[in-house]
Amino acid sequence: MDIQTVGIIGAGTMGNGIAQACAVVGIPVVMVDITEEALQKGLATIAGSLDRLIKKEKLTPAEKDKALALIRTSTRYEDLGVAELVIEAATENLPVKIKILQQADALLPAGTIIASNTSSISITKLAAATGRADRFIGMHFFNPVPMMALVEVISGLQTSAATHDAVKALAQRLGKTPISVKNAPGFVVNRILIPMINEAFFVLAEGTASAEDIDEGMKLGCNQPIGPLALADMVGLDVCLAVMEVYLAEFGDPKYRPCPLLREMVAAGRLGRKTKSGVYSY
Ligand code: NAI
Repeated sequence: MDIQTVGIIGAGTMGNGIAQACAVVGIPVVMVDITEEALQKGLATIAGSLDRLIKKEKLTPAEKDKALALIRTSTRYEDLGVAELVIEAATENLPVKIKILQQADALLPAGTIIASNTSSISITKLAAATGRADRFIGMHFFNPVPMMALVEVISGLQTSAATHDAVKALAQRLGKTPISVKNAPGFVVNRILIPMINEAFFVLAEGTASAEDIDEGMKLGCNQPIGPLALADMVGLDVCLAVMEVYLAEFGDPKYRPCPLLREMVAAGRLGRKTKSGVYSY
């Protein structure tokens, strides 16, 4: 299947990033959100991001105008009908996503592929909310979308090979590198990353090394651009804890038990950068 136009549901952090990634490579986009205000905010974010690329001489003002002209916005799901692929990038909340997907499934032509950018909900479960599980897939972009090269292309139990191939090809047209993943909690990257962060909290709690030395060790010893504890502060300690709880529940394996120190810090309200205090103070 040839994807010529992309629909996006949700104009927030990820939705507007995906819209930008499509538009800069010449793919027309229809971006839908609940309010005109959310759409305007999304468009302003894209314009600001394109301006930064112009400053870095990675884009010309004419290319910016061309990209912006390819992005249509709407508060009506009906306007997504022109797209061969619709990517859901709305709020991470199961009932909200189920409602959106049922609505989109009822309105969109039978052949349209629907993808979700969810970071934690089962693709197989979301697919089951639609009548097109074979044409439903996970398309997990990373933040910030215009900068990050990876897309996890996640097949649910019933996703067809044709759907997988079409979405993988689109990710490549966006200049991204797709990896093929079978649906499982955390997919690939977060499944490995978050337990690594959790382990760093155990190492800290056991007094094996200071937070600074743990982060320095992982930066210089594993060539990571940022240490796991500093990264936890960026992701949010509450998010890290919630993800570990999901792995523990879904796999039923005690190796995913959250570190008690992580629990303590979340209980204390030390959630990381967003509360100006986590492992480090900001
Ligand atoms: P966000 O909160 O920035 O944006 C969500 C947008 O969805 C908002 O503009 C909201 O108005 C809109 N929305 C809510 N209900 C809607 C509906 N019924 N119809 C249309 N639009 C609706 O959220 P963010 O961070 O962009 O996350 C979106 C998705 O991407 C989530 O599933 C999240 O798990 C996933 N994700 C987020 C990453 C991140 O770093 N922020 C990274 C990778 C995936």
